[in-house]
Amino acid sequence: MPGNIFAKKVQVHEIFKDERFLYPEFVPERMPFREPEVDSLVFSLHPVLQGKKPQNVFVCGKTGTGKTATVKFVLNELQQYSDRAKGLYINCFQLNTRHSILTQISNFLGDATPRRGIATDEAFAKMLEALKHTSFIPIVVLDEADQLLHDKEASKLFYDLLRVVEYGKGRFGLIFISNLSNFVALLDDRVKSSLSEQTISFESYSPSQLKEILNQRAQYAFHSGALGSEAINIAAAHAAKLGGDARIAIECLFRAGREAEKENSEKLEIKHLQKIFSEVDSRALQKAISYLSIAEREILGFVPATKAIASGELFKAYSKASKKPLTQRRFRTLISELEKKQLITAKTTVKPPRGRTRMILLAFPKNKLELTDKN
Ligand SMILES: Nc1ncnc2c1ncn2[C@@H]1O[C@H](COP(=O)(O)OP(=O)(O)O)[C@@H](O)[C@H]1O
Ligand SMILES: [Mg+2]
Repeated sequence: MPGNIFAKKVQVHEIFKDERFLYPEFVPERMPFREPEVDSLVFSLHPVLQGKKPQNVFVCGKTGTGKTATVKFVLNELQQYSDRAKGLYINCFQLNTRHSILTQISNFLGDATPRRGIATDEAFAKMLEALKHTSFIPIVVLDEADQLLHDKEASKLFYDLLRVVEYGKGRFGLIFISNLSNFVALLDDRVKSSLSEQTISFESYSPSQLKEILNQRAQYAFHSGALGSEAINIAAAHAAKLGGDARIAIECLFRAGREAEKENSEKLEIKHLQKIFSEVDSRALQKAISYLSIAEREILGFVPATKAIASGELFKAYSKASKKPLTQRRFRTLISELEKKQLITAKTTVKPPRGRTRMILLAFPKNKLELTDKN
């Protein structure tokens, strides 16, 4: 009789001690290299301990620099220390309408009105009413807040929040998080000055910082001896190359660990990492594309698939076709942004008759742009 097909799959070698430490939503109990950012957040929020007005905060930095984890970590600590404040975390990729966010905040404040069937203005009124009766100071986090700027109705939420801040007489705190360093500049003046009193910028991690972050995480996630000696260095170097993104670094270890278990290998080796790099890279690319603004996406649409185009030509082609053309200055800014995101390369050439020109080349296969089309 043949053996049971599952019997063959029983693992002899276990790589993970507890893989949950590598899940993207895991919030570590310590945030190495983020002490100054943690301190700034504590400084902005600490007035709530005396029942006073917290400072509203804007947190910015590229993906994987620890923005979300740091804010969640600080809120956890605050709630453990005192019951005067409570945090509500909202990811605007998941909740992206004015109505759904207002309802979510209302519910958090203790209003039990069902979400469906009431108009947005009513949802807003209910929220103000609920705010009157809360026994704690709410601190609302809007992560990926720039997602709301894509939509006119959703953008009105910033005005709503401004009114809440005024109405609540300071018994309400806000934290915005965005990958866009110019997010605040995109807001209207009144909203800008009142809602982002303090900005905290997160810089990308260096290769050695990524290594340290991985080392700490690996202690909890892997069995001792299950990691080949070079695995962490290679994973950290790979993530550093992709822009210093800690999420990518951790994801590489996680996937390679799975791969090692699949092969029933004793250890996670470099070959397992090499096997999963291309998949991780392609997901990172997909993510970078999904974060693009409409204008950036439009510009990329005019870059030829396989050959370089002079920046001036690109501007012309884009301006002719776009319904909302940009100024040349704004266009240049966006080109630099796209270059920073490693989605294009922009090499300066000096050739007659044009003279100094930047030649723009797409840094990824063009069909990926359509695959992640939003509309
Ligand atoms: N300083 C750090 N120490 C430990 N883990 C970190 C640190 N910075 C980031 N991470 C981890 O890296 C991943 C990405 O961080 P995240 O906060 O989601 O980045 P962002 O919100 O800036 O895109 C998360 O799993 C997070 O726990
Ligand atoms: Mg985040």
